[in-house]
Amino acid sequence: MPDFDTLIDRRNTASEKWDRYGDRDIIPLWVADMDFRSPPAVIEALHQRVAHGIFGYSGPPKELVETVIAMLFREYGWQVDPAWLVWLPGLVCGLNVACRAVGQTGDAVAAFTPVYPPFLTAPGLADRQLVTAPLVEQQGHWVMDLDALEQAITDHTRLLMLCSPHNPVGRIWSREEQLTLAELVERHNLIVCSDEIHSGLLLDAEKQHIPFATLAPELARRTITLQAPSKTYNIPGLGCSFAIIPDGQLRTAFRGVMSGIVPHLNLLGYSATLAAYRDGEQWRQALLSYLRENRDLVLESLAEMPGLKTWPVEATYLAWINARSLQTDDPAGFFELAGVGLSDGAPFGAPGFLRLNFGCPRVLLKQALTRMRMVC
Ligand SMILES: Cc1ncc(COP(=O)(O)O)c(C=O)c1O
Repeated sequence: MPDFDTLIDRRNTASEKWDRYGDRDIIPLWVADMDFRSPPAVIEALHQRVAHGIFGYSGPPKELVETVIAMLFREYGWQVDPAWLVWLPGLVCGLNVACRAVGQTGDAVAAFTPVYPPFLTAPGLADRQLVTAPLVEQQGHWVMDLDALEQAITDHTRLLMLCSPHNPVGRIWSREEQLTLAELVERHNLIVCSDEIHSGLLLDAEKQHIPFATLAPELARRTITLQAPSKTYNIPGLGCSFAIIPDGQLRTAFRGVMSGIVPHLNLLGYSATLAAYRDGEQWRQALLSYLRENRDLVLESLAEMPGLKTWPVEATYLAWINARSLQTDDPAGFFELAGVGLSDGAPFGAPGFLRLNFGCPRVLLKQALTRMRMVC
């Protein structure tokens, strides 16, 4: 049984999450990595690769490609041609490449807010205009406001960036929801960039992740799917991800933007990814059980804190919190003073909200929640 309970000291390990607060007594529950060791199979594969001692330029090993193709078929019934894969050192890189590869300077890119901040910055960095539509609350659930999207889209809108499952609201988009979105996508002739980095982290066991590209062949042709093992197996520092682009023209445009700019992948990333997808399933299932209990603890605890509101977390290890009723206009600063470091909602397009990362040993999570309770 994997051990998710032991606290592992991450200070002085070049951890972005833990270095942020230095020696201050602040429990970091912000950036999306977990305080757990990766699956033993991943660590073993890395040891073996390091022991070889030669670290030259690399390409994806054949077995990795076969393993990824098999995983996509097993999980989603998706038959992917190896030629459709484009390896990337990161998904943020993929979002930015997608913005440059679709349409022209001055065109528009659509996204739903709140959302993982690079969705909101990538269009501008690519000289594209960002247009947004909100996710809205309906019967205690976040849903896409498709009327607002329809209003926001212009003749110049070429690309829609979808986050599925969604960071930060934790939704797993159903087939029906995605089909309704797809109708609008086709009517406006949009390309979709679907970031599915959190698809291995489904906490709601009743629900299924449905890749947007699997809804219909004609939708696959207009979709760039971004995938990675980094969130699920806690290896984001190894930088190994991939795009799945069935359409040849779109793939050529995507590769064209990468050319000479996006570097080779780190070979350790390939080794870790292969081991994760091939040998990590038991570990992943144990992780999901642990995260479900952490999620329940977070939602129960926050429900008792006046001024904070949360929603069911169907996927991810991130809870989205409305803190607008707190008597402060800086809720992140407010909780830092109490010794808990959360992500500020403002860069996600939602000032007054917070995001809490519960991918950590329960003892640490309990301590953080107790600190929050003391000031609420
Ligand atoms: C939706 C989403 N996309 C991409 C990333 C980051 O991807 P990468 O580290 O591979 O650039 C994250 C990290 O939190 C994320 O939540």
